[in-house]
This record gives sequence, C-alpha cells and structure tokens, in this order.
Amino acid sequence: MYSSDIDAVVTSRDGSVDTGTRDQGDTASRNGHLPGTEDAAVGTVGPTGRPLPTFPEPAPLASHGPARVIAMCNQKGGVGKTTTTINLGAALAEYGRRVLLVDFDPQGALSVGLGIPAHELDVTVYNLLTERGHDVRDVIQKTKVANLDVIPANIDLSAAEVQLVGEVAREQILARVLRPVLDEYDVVLIDCQPSLGLLTVNALTAAHGVLIPLECEFFAMRGVALLVETIEKITDRLNPRLEVDGILATMYDSRTLHSKEVVASVVEHFGERVFHTVISRTVKFPDASLAAEPITTYDSTHKGAGAYRQLARELIARGGAA
Ligand SMILES: Nc1ncnc2c1ncn2[C@@H]1O[C@H](COP(=O)(O)OP(=O)(O)OP(=O)(O)O)[C@@H](O)[C@H]1O
Ligand SMILES: [Mg+2]
Repeated sequence: MYSSDIDAVVTSRDGSVDTGTRDQGDTASRNGHLPGTEDAAVGTVGPTGRPLPTFPEPAPLASHGPARVIAMCNQKGGVGKTTTTINLGAALAEYGRRVLLVDFDPQGALSVGLGIPAHELDVTVYNLLTERGHDVRDVIQKTKVANLDVIPANIDLSAAEVQLVGEVAREQILARVLRPVLDEYDVVLIDCQPSLGLLTVNALTAAHGVLIPLECEFFAMRGVALLVETIEKITDRLNPRLEVDGILATMYDSRTLHSKEVVASVVEHFGERVFHTVISRTVKFPDASLAAEPITTYDSTHKGAGAYRQLARELIARGGAA
C-alpha cells in the first residue's frame, strides 16, 4: 500500500518507477568513516558494538543560519520520531543553536508535547500549506525552551494530503513555506507522520538530511528497505541534495540480548550510518511528554537527557548540523 502511495507521488515527474536499489552502505563506506567519527579506534566499545568516539562540546556559533533541514522519518508508528524531534531539538537549542521544529503529523503530538494547545489554534502548518497569504512567522510559536520554536499542527492537517494532490509542484509546498525563515535558524527538524504519503514526500523534498529512528525490537528493519527506496527516488527526482544523516536506535534495553542483537543487525546493514548514540528505553520520555517538556528540562540530569545531548553533539560532529 505504501509502495503504491509513494509511486503515485514520486513518479509523477517523469512517469517512470525506479525499483533499482543501490548499495546502501555506499556513501558511508566511501571514506571508511563519517566526518567526526575518525577517532573511533581510540574509544571504548559503545552500545552499537563499535568503539565509541568522543563528541566534543560544540563551539558557540558566531552567527546564525542558514538552517540545515532534517526530516525525522520512518513510516512505522511509535518508533520515537516525535520524541527525537523534541529532545534533539531541545539539546541543540541548549548548545545555542536556533532550532525550528515543524509538526508535520495531524496527530499534533509534537505540538502537545511542547505545551502548545494545537487543537485550539486557528492557523497551523495546514493553513501555510493550503492557503496563500499567510506569513510563516505568524504561525511560529515560541516554546518554554530558549532558542526552540515550533510550527504547530493539529487534525486539520489530515485534509491537506487530499487537498494538495491537484496542486502544481505539490511535493515542494513545504520547502516554499519554510524558505522565508531558513536564514533565521541553524536547524529545522520536521516530525513526519508514520506514512510515506504526500506530506512525508514534502518533508523529504524540503530537507537536506533524513534521520531514521528505529525501535530496538524484532521487526525494526521491516519496512526500512521501502523507506530507503523512497529516499532514493526523492533524491533522484525531486531533491538531489538529500542525504541519510543517520539511523538512530531507540528504546534500547541494555539488559536484553535482544536489543543488542537488533542493534548489531542494524549496524551490519547500515554500517557507519548508524549513530553511535543509542536512546535507552525509559519511562521518563512519556513522563516528560505528559509534562509537555523536553526531557532536557523535565529531568536535566537523567541519562535520557544526556543521550539526546550526545546525539546533538554527534550530529554536529558528523556535519549534520552547524
Ligand atoms: N526511549 C524511549 N523509551 C520509552 N518510551 C519512549 C521512548 N521514546 C519514545 N517513547 C514513547 O513511545 C511512544 C511513541 O514514541 P513517539 O511518539 O516519539 O514515536 P513516533 O515515531 O513519533 O510515533 P508516531 O509514528 O505515532 O508518530 C510515546 O509514548 C513515547 O513517549
Ligand atoms: Mg510522532
């Protein structure tokens, strides 16, 4: 089903469907290491089974923008996309980066998780996508975290997919919406819904990079081949600059052999594209969401907050963010 959705969307440009697959480790293995992981040999073995590099405290930025746009993407539900968007965003903001989060899921979990009463709002990302004449700055909301802003969404967005089908350049609408504010931010993180439909294609077309959270459970890899194929089609036809910034193992449980086996198989498949940072399973994440805060402020010293800070440092060290 997802396959036909995405083909309907992505094949519209040249009418052909590319089903060929490329070597997925190609880009990552070209140099042996991704930038920032060169000192891997000197560290201790981390949870991904590879020597863990140290990721330095990022230097403060002297000036801001233009933003690098990253889509948080996996069509599988409940893998940690929204949790990662909020907490990676908050961690980057702590490091002085100006961060804009885009809620691109009609469920509005990102907005609600940051204390924004999205269901009461008259203008959201939906209006930016479907109506002319809105200023994106009027829709952006500040959060309680300094440097962390959000474009909220609510259930209205569920109508957008159908409404946009007839639009000219329908895959590029989000890119157009974000363009006026890119110079004001260092990073834009887009929280995608669990689907590969037109909204997600818009997110991938607006993005420079894609970050794929994978839950450490038995079927983690199911559907990933289709996601990679989708990303390749977008790269070929709509957005040649798009890169896979990394695969993030989430809900890791160090006490179970199972978690370790899943991470090992993900590393075997994706090599250096897998972040050294893994996110452990802890009830602090749902607790923080209920409190409508990132874990970095809800329980700043918790290891879950530390993990997302490390992810922010790793992303910066790899060149995935300024
Ligand atoms: N590391 C974690 N440990 C424990 N619970 C987590 C963790 N990460 C996320 N969760 C919880 O798991 C649930 C799903 O997470 P989240 O909403 O981030 O996933 P998602 O991929 O955005 O889901 P959807 O596809 O529905 O948008 C939430 O209740 C969240 O609080
Ligand atoms: Mg979500």
